[in-house]
This record gives sequence, structure tokens and C-alpha cells, in this order.
Amino acid sequence: MKFAKMLDSVKGVMTVEMNALLTRLKQEGREVINLGVGDPDFSPPESLRRVLRDGVNRPDSHHYPSFYPLQPLKEAIADWYQRRFRVGLDSRGEVLPLLGSTDGLFNIHLCLLDPGDIALVPDPCYPSYESAARLAGGVVERFPLLRENDFLPALEEIPSETAKKAKMIWMNYPNNPTGATAPPEFHQKLIAWAKAYDVAVVSDAAYSEVYFDNQPPVSFLEFPGARGVGVELHSLSKSFNCCGWRIGMMVGNRDLIDALSRVKAHSDRGIFYPLQQAAIEALKSPPDFMKTRNRIFQERRDLVVRGLEEIGLEVYRPKATFYVWAKVPPGYTSRDFCFKALEEANVWMLPGANYGKCGEGYLRIAVTRSAEVLSEAMQRLKKLST
Ligand SMILES: Cc1ncc(COP(=O)(O)O)c(C=O)c1O
Repeated sequence: MKFAKMLDSVKGVMTVEMNALLTRLKQEGREVINLGVGDPDFSPPESLRRVLRDGVNRPDSHHYPSFYPLQPLKEAIADWYQRRFRVGLDSRGEVLPLLGSTDGLFNIHLCLLDPGDIALVPDPCYPSYESAARLAGGVVERFPLLRENDFLPALEEIPSETAKKAKMIWMNYPNNPTGATAPPEFHQKLIAWAKAYDVAVVSDAAYSEVYFDNQPPVSFLEFPGARGVGVELHSLSKSFNCCGWRIGMMVGNRDLIDALSRVKAHSDRGIFYPLQQAAIEALKSPPDFMKTRNRIFQERRDLVVRGLEEIGLEVYRPKATFYVWAKVPPGYTSRDFCFKALEEANVWMLPGANYGKCGEGYLRIAVTRSAEVLSEAMQRLKKLST
């Protein structure tokens, strides 16, 4: 078969090598502690599950949904935005429900890039930005997120020749993998920069509701001029502990929303109605469960930060997300240390290099396991000779 050349540029989210090691350890009957996967270990609240269950039991739920998402869902999204971020959105033109934010994340490239167009992508970052841009025929230019800049990009250091040619720039705060958040002044700077170079901003806020120390992250759309230059992605996956449900949304610039709905009319056949109903319930429900859940994530964050510091690792204390981003011990690459920890201590963490060149020298831990399991993982790592 003659496969598309574009496919060669796409790497798996996890390396083949690490997958093979995990499979072998499993065959050997080892009890590996999985700190790799970013999927909350809590259930979605009962009221959401009830709405979904009731919907599944209705005989008329199982047909093709309409191409057009339920207007009450779009209104629930707009109301949630108003309550959460004090941003008014037109539910008819500035809101688009998605099959998880990945749906928008992938297809947005088809709206913005012609073959050879530049997409600016942070380094490190969630790997799908790069793969999706390349599969759309785009050329990816990475820009660094460095510890000394609190993992915010130095926009002024993006060469102006590159910025002038670029069609889009990815932003992701709260950030996976670093756990960094962006302050208001950064968003203002970003909007001015995007206007000056006519570059569309795609802000991935999938982790906006997983935050610590009672400091809710801001939305890019809170700042004047934002919806003139871009859109924001949100996800119910992390916010409402329902990664498997596949529901999210894109909001903001109406031309981009319109473009994405045109692509989606061909790339999928809508969202299962009971899921749309459950999403309405989620967005309308009081955020009490999130407070409890975030407090638990915060306690786990503190446990892991303390544990890694006791081992002597340099840790970036995350302000949001359920990830801890830490330096590997001196003398190791991120790959070598994570493989050693997996092979010798049965602790699975992700090498920072999986997220880009600037992720080299780091590892990522997801605190999506209980405090007991995380403590056991820290004990195992302490015994590891480095
Ligand atoms: C930064 C980031 N964006 C988007 C996603 C995709 O989330 P969803 O489940 O909404 O497709 C993830 C998933 O891990 C992520 O880490």
C-alpha cells in the first residue's frame, strides 16, 4: 500500500520502547505503579451519571444526533462561561460543543492551515498539537517554555519573519506537562502580539477547573480583543472526571467556530444525545464536588513535591493540573531515568523528552492515584540508587 508521507512525521503519544517495557513487566507479573496517565481516578458526579443513564434508557436516544448540537447545551456552555469567567458568549455563534477537546484540537488545523503553512507550537507541549498540525500539511515551528520564564513563552523572541508567516499559535494554560498557569498580563501581551502578526490563537484550557490554593485560572477570552484573534478549548474530561465520555467545547471567534462546524459536519455525526444532556447537567451543577476533588489533588501534589524534594530532585510546584514536573537527577536523560525507575522500582513516569526538546531533563508525574499509592511510589523512588 502507498501510505501518505505525512504519516511518517507522526509519533505515538507514548514511545514504542516504553510500551514494550510496560508489556514485558506486566507479563512478569510486576506491580507497576502507573503515574503516567492523566485521567482522574474519581467518578463523574452522581447527577451526571443519572442523566446519562436515563438518556440511555430512552428508546429515541439512539438515532443519529442532529448535525447541530442541542441549543440548550450551547446555552449551558455560555451560562457557565458567564458564571466562571464573567465572559458573555453568543450561544448561537460563539459556542461549539465537541467530541472531547481533541476533536477541536485536531480539526482546527484543517480550518487554518494550507500545506506548508506555519503553526507555532510550544516546547514542551501536549504531543497532539504537533501531530495534528503536520497531518494537516502544516510546518511546525516550536518555541521554548523555560523554567526561568515560569514556562511562559517569550513572544518577542519568536523571529518576526516566522511570526509574520505563521497562521496559528498554540497556547495551553494551565499547562500540560509543566502545571504552569498564565497571569492576566501574559494574555494581554499575547493578544497584542497575535493582532500585530495576524496569527490565530488557539488556547487549550482543558485543565481550567483543576487548580490549587483557591486560585482559579483565568480564561484567555476574559481580555479585550481576545475573540477577535482566537478561540479557547475546554473539556469536560478533566473538569468533571469523565475522560471516556468524549465531550468538550470550543468558544470564541465566530469565524473560526463556523469554520470548525463546517469541517465537523463531515468528520463526525454529532454527539450522542444522552451525553449532551449529561453535559448540560454538568455545566449547571454547583461546583462543590470540584472543590473537594481539587483539595485531594492538592494534598497529593504536596505529597509528591515533598517526596521528590526529599530524594533531591528539583521540582516545579504546579499551580494547576494534576501533573508534577520535576528535573531528573544529574547525569541522566529523561528517558534513561524514567526507564530505570520503571525497570528497577516499578514506577511508571513519563520522560519530559516525550513533550519536546525543551522537556529533556524533566519527568512528569500524574497525581491521579491515591495518597497511599503515591506514598508507596515515593518510597520506591527513594530506594532507587542514582
Ligand atoms: C493539554 C490537553 N489538551 C487536550 C487534551 C484532550 O482532552 P479531551 O479528553 O477533552 O479530548 C488533553 C488530554 O490529556 C490534554 O492534556
